[in-house]
Amino acid sequence: MTFRQARWDEPLLWELAPPATAGPPPPPITGIPERLRRRRPLDWPELSEPEVVRHYTRLSQMNFGIDTSAYPLGSCTMKYNPKLSEMLARRAGVAELHPYQPASTVQGALEILWRLERALAKVTGMAEASVQPAAGAHGEYAALLMVRAYLRDHGESERRREVLLPDTAHGTNPASAAMAGFETREIRSRDGCVDVEALRAAVSDRTACFMLTNPNTTGLFETEILEIAQIVHEAGALLYYDGANLNAILGITNPGRMGFDVAHLNLHKTFATPHGGGGPGAGVLAASERLAPYLPIPRVRKVGRRFVLDYDRPKSIGKIKTAYGNFGLDLRAYAFLRYHGEDGLRAVARRAVLNANYLGHRLGSILPRPFRPLVKHEFLLSGAPLKARGVRTADLAKRLLDEGVHAPTVYFPTLVDEALMIEFPETESRRELDQFVEAFRRAATDSSERLKAAPTALAVGRVDEVRAARELRLSRKDLVAAPAEPSPPTGGPPRSAGIGPEPKS
Ligand SMILES: Cc1ncc(COP(=O)(O)O)c(C=O)c1O
Repeated sequence: MTFRQARWDEPLLWELAPPATAGPPPPPITGIPERLRRRRPLDWPELSEPEVVRHYTRLSQMNFGIDTSAYPLGSCTMKYNPKLSEMLARRAGVAELHPYQPASTVQGALEILWRLERALAKVTGMAEASVQPAAGAHGEYAALLMVRAYLRDHGESERRREVLLPDTAHGTNPASAAMAGFETREIRSRDGCVDVEALRAAVSDRTACFMLTNPNTTGLFETEILEIAQIVHEAGALLYYDGANLNAILGITNPGRMGFDVAHLNLHKTFATPHGGGGPGAGVLAASERLAPYLPIPRVRKVGRRFVLDYDRPKSIGKIKTAYGNFGLDLRAYAFLRYHGEDGLRAVARRAVLNANYLGHRLGSILPRPFRPLVKHEFLLSGAPLKARGVRTADLAKRLLDEGVHAPTVYFPTLVDEALMIEFPETESRRELDQFVEAFRRAATDSSERLKAAPTALAVGRVDEVRAARELRLSRKDLVAAPAEPSPPTGGPPRSAGIGPEPKS
């Protein structure tokens, strides 16, 4: 028998040690009243504490995490989560709060939410903010419901059914628009930014709103933003701000100044709170004066010296989440805002922009960079030149995993051939950036078989992604029992397995 290493087929605790069914019964425990005694023995494996700890540690080693290496996913903005915020969120007074406690017993928490919402309204240059949504995409959907409610109030919801989006838009934008009942129409870009003439030609009395990220997902700031706002508003439509890239402009400019009417923010991308990944995300809605009445209920209000949850907002789109916000994350973001202060937030944005331009400049000597070279917080490379020697961006991304770093976002935005989108937020040091350059150079110039087989050094080998998507197997039982086909070099999962590191936004 050999010692276990972190591998994709780590046994369940029950497989490591089946529950003891034979043997002498445990000694009777005295002092437990008869009615409280267990009727049947527990069906639990018998393992020592170190065995259990090592099992979970091996599981944790199967994943990339921001605490083990940088996570340069462009657009997703994976920031290091400062431990100070973590410590605050773990205090019993915070961690043990129940979302349905009466307001009178959670005055401190409500005050934090109230202060956070006011701070976020200021950061975005908007009239009001609400921390209710559970993620960026949830905020998008809620904001589009607000747009719809606003149009209905103005007798225009029947006519204005179209949402315009640039071809650089994140996939959640058209998805949210469709879910909110709108039709979508794409506006082409020119040199990575909105083609203003194409926008001018597309707006009409059917336009409900234009959804835009600024800086956009090519890392470029839309310098024509004031003209864009004017075109949209003159057509009687609204301007929506996707705040996923707000970290690039914190404290320097804001969507309110640019003329946006409503915005969503991703607390996890801007204020260094843990990323969602289907888990504890937190979105925020911010609205200008004319859209603020439509924000979801309840709203946190201060009445005298007390904080209350106000449901009396007749124009509101209603409730969009059972509990109000995601308090643990909201608190972390509030702490981030407080310990940085206004100057610190500006420094965050400047550092993010400096990191992107430094790294973009260095990596630009390895692969070409589309569009203008001066970017905000993220930049694009094109892996197209590698195609000549049969290497795809996906190969490069997987080879980077073997270097011990997470892959960048790949194949997005789609307007760049073999795109790699890279973002090293302000939390990463120059040392980390330089280390990434060397890792990237090794990966991009690798001509060995390792490139096509990568990742070879991880618990999970390369999976056949197409087959995994078509023959999805989510049950571990099916996966482990799957007929053995030729395995990747590390003895990773069978090629049909639907698991594996997936480098994407
Ligand atoms: C530009 C942009 N918009 C929206 C989203 C969706 O945000 P969330 O993942 O918080 O739902 C993302 C996520 O990466 C994004 O990059």
